[in-house]
Amino acid sequence: MTVVVFGSINMDLVARAPRLPAPGETVPGHTFFTAPGGKGANQAVACARLGAPTRMVGRVGDDALGVELRAALRAAGVDEREVVSTAGPSGVALIAVDDGARNTIIVVPGANGAIGSSDVARLEVALRGAQVLLLQLEIPLEAVIAAARAARRAGVRVILDPAPACQLPAELYQLVDIITPNESEAATLVGFAPDDEAARIAAARALHARTGGAVVLKLGEHGALLFADEQALHLPALPVRAVDSVAAGDAFNAGLAVALVEGQSLPAALRWAVAAGALAVTRAGAQPAMPSRDEVLAMLKEQGYGSRA
Ligand code: RIB
Repeated sequence: MTVVVFGSINMDLVARAPRLPAPGETVPGHTFFTAPGGKGANQAVACARLGAPTRMVGRVGDDALGVELRAALRAAGVDEREVVSTAGPSGVALIAVDDGARNTIIVVPGANGAIGSSDVARLEVALRGAQVLLLQLEIPLEAVIAAARAARRAGVRVILDPAPACQLPAELYQLVDIITPNESEAATLVGFAPDDEAARIAAARALHARTGGAVVLKLGEHGALLFADEQALHLPALPVRAVDSVAAGDAFNAGLAVALVEGQSLPAALRWAVAAGALAVTRAGAQPAMPSRDEVLAMLKEQGYGSRA
């Protein structure tokens, strides 16, 4: 029941302010902190906290941040033996968060940008015995494609978080079992905004036509929509006090993956995903906000969804 994550590892530098600055504007902030992040590492930490044996394959720099980032993975229970050090800086993300929990992020890849064929070779070994591979787009696209090919050869299910969004080659779509864009990523991929139910279903159908697999749209305050087997299932968002939406999408993908490796159906896994994403929004930071299994189970129970421990 193992999840493997192949992706980015960043240190997040987070500044909070009443509102986000417009271009050219300076806004006084009230809080600053650093915390481990990176879409790949966040997903790995969340999977481990949700109870799945989790391996991370990736790169950190040979700087002090690299030591800290690797320690954070280990502390969360992630097997990080396939995270290697690269000469140069670790990846960093400059994150601004406003008091309404909205954010902007600039990612500087650092060591993540050096991921390539030798990492894919180590991934092939890590995939032995795994059920799910989680991918995102903060590492070179050629490496993402090679990783998806390796997973297909190994019979491992691929969940792609197309973030940050960019146009993707047909081959990658065909190697993906489940694609999980948020609204803006879906708009980039399909060319129109999924801003009402008809447009959401049309976007999901368009993506399904490219992958042949399930499509999950992460809709933030509008919940999430699953499109699979010609059926759409829309779950509403869970009511939580939003503090910081950074990495909520990463917690969501981890919830989906962990429920699937435990043999749950896609609709049941969607509930796990929505609960994990909602819990992540209630806390500041990326990895510090990733929820535990007990928290997700409690939230599912509270919502009357029922769950499997
Ligand atoms: O998804 C959130 C993540 O995006 C942050 O942790 C930051 O590192 C960027 O990669």
